[in-house]
Amino acid sequence: MFERPYIVGNWKMHGTRAMLSEARAIDRGAERLMKVEVALAPPFTLIHATRKEAGLIGVGAQDCHPAEGGAHTGDISAAMLKDSGAGFVIVGHSERRADHGETDADVKAKAEAALAVGLNAIVCVGETEADRDAGKAEAVVARQLDGSLPQGESAAAKVTVAYEPVWAIGTGRTPTVEDIGAMHCAIRQRLNAIYGEDGAAIRILYGGSVKPENAAELLGADEVGGALVGGASLTAESFLGIVAAAHEALEA
Ligand code: PGA
Repeated sequence: MFERPYIVGNWKMHGTRAMLSEARAIDRGAERLMKVEVALAPPFTLIHATRKEAGLIGVGAQDCHPAEGGAHTGDISAAMLKDSGAGFVIVGHSERRADHGETDADVKAKAEAALAVGLNAIVCVGETEADRDAGKAEAVVARQLDGSLPQGESAAAKVTVAYEPVWAIGTGRTPTVEDIGAMHCAIRQRLNAIYGEDGAAIRILYGGSVKPENAAELLGADEVGGALVGGASLTAESFLGIVAAAHEALEA
């Protein structure tokens, strides 16, 4: 595991102001677990309030539009996210790719828009079950990395990659530790090819059915630098259970 693992909660389309108490509790709990970097990506509507309520943890968004502004009804620019208190944005989540037809080129444009205003970007990649069954998982992920990662000076320093096999998201199924390690090592090689020596420091998160019960095992896989957590990030109890598992793994 990386020196300071990064555990990010993705609240997806969950949460009204009533859930700010969970964000506060996560923030308070994170104070005791400082060896782990903790962040939450609530829906757009809660970014500002979460930033105000939770002073310690990172706060980010789940998507942005690639343009600086203009006639894009319902969309949110990276600069707006920054203004609302976000420090990062998740781009290319498989639910965005599937539900909104986002291509690798779209994801790259979003990531570059984020970096241009000083946000960090978490770029998501991951194969479908059919890809894996066909033995194409690594090739699919390599193609997504090539097409989705932002380019430009010091881009590597602002990027985190999240490997999330589509078939493991919200299903309770996870790859084996060996499969996660193999994929993360392949991603590392690709990052080194794309960014040169800067690629070595990029954190690669695992995502897909991470829970308090399996976090220590999954975080122990080769080249895993943290986790992107969906369902289990919705309550402070389960999310802090994952953060605590990462913290304990460092002390073991
Ligand atoms: P899950 O979602 O933890 O609920 O599987 C992960 C994600 O989609 O980021």
